[in-house]
Amino acid sequence: MSEQEQHQAKDDLGTRFVHTGQERDPATGAITPPVYRAVSFHQPDPFHAHGFDYSRSGNPTRAALEGALAELEGGVRGFAFASGNQALTASLLLLKTGDHVLVTRDCQGGTQRLFRAVLDRFGLHATYVDTDDLEQLERALRPTTRALLIENYSNPFLRVTDVALLAEWAHTRNLLVMVDNTFLTPAGQTPLRLGADLVIHSATKMMAGHADVTAGVVTAREETWAGPLYTVQNATGGILSPDDSYQVLRGLHTLPLRLERAAAGAGALAEWLRGQDEVAELFYPGLVGHPGHALARRTTRTFGTIVTLRLRRPESASAFVEALRLVQVSAGFGGTETTLSVAALHCHGALTDEERAERGITPAVMRFSVGLEDPSDIIADVGRALAAARRAS
Ligand SMILES: Cc1ncc(COP(=O)(O)O)c(C=O)c1O
Repeated sequence: MSEQEQHQAKDDLGTRFVHTGQERDPATGAITPPVYRAVSFHQPDPFHAHGFDYSRSGNPTRAALEGALAELEGGVRGFAFASGNQALTASLLLLKTGDHVLVTRDCQGGTQRLFRAVLDRFGLHATYVDTDDLEQLERALRPTTRALLIENYSNPFLRVTDVALLAEWAHTRNLLVMVDNTFLTPAGQTPLRLGADLVIHSATKMMAGHADVTAGVVTAREETWAGPLYTVQNATGGILSPDDSYQVLRGLHTLPLRLERAAAGAGALAEWLRGQDEVAELFYPGLVGHPGHALARRTTRTFGTIVTLRLRRPESASAFVEALRLVQVSAGFGGTETTLSVAALHCHGALTDEERAERGITPAVMRFSVGLEDPSDIIADVGRALAAARRAS
């Protein structure tokens, strides 16, 4: 039995995700955590401070989410931020001027823009490498390299990185290992258990899961990084609001269920797309021919909910997109509904023309986020769009 099948056979995942963060409220017995909007908390003995005092520094609803993350990810402390990019920024602020970071080349556009537009000005530089290629990583090392930022699966081409192997490699070189695990979610893989130091998510996506909250989270494996990260969170203040913390916590309770259903839909869509003439290239880790298939099967619980394709003829892209009826065209992903991003315009619109060309992101690259609909309805809609693309030739 493969690792994925073994996990599925003995899984208590559903139970853990439902019950985590569900401490009964000591004041009322409420079994879902109350949303505490209070900014300040009374200090009966201000000279011996304990508990909550000010919401930027700590808030009970955010703490419920942060505690749940630590438990589910296998870390010591979680931290919730106002967006995924804020979570990435806070993690990178653990570094200092002059430090160099190795980053997965095929990363979300916002990460590359963060370095180019902001961090580079403070002397924190990135080199982009294929993190499924150890020799490339070795060659990119500099005396100033201090961290490795992996995005797994990668975006938009769904390359698969061996997190355990890279964590070991990086730690022997004293690098901080961060994994942006947005595509896999903690129900799909727990990188801290594979040796990573920090795991980061855009909780906006599958974690909150309903495309109605913008949020980011980080969990630290050890106090060595949790302490400094708390200082960054409190000092820079990009915290998640109590209402949004509640929304993300609620999303966590159904995450394994949604992930399983949406991944089944993604698998069905990918299998169907395999034989289609208008599709020049297809990327889905669940396909046996995908270069990372065996690694994904061995190291993750899911092949994920994202399917990317490259249309055979870029000039048919608008006809393809315009013919979609059920599938919504949008920049986001990970909601209950199936969406399509035109990579060059949406998820990688933050890149410069040169950066997109270097990464092979042309207007023909389409990234589906499969939702919870009946897979046959999604396939019928995509089939209609491919037929329109064919007619547009
Ligand atoms: C892998 C990944 N990480 C981080 C982010 C940034 O998240 P947010 O949009 O919540 O700032 C995104 C956004 O698409 C993403 O895809």
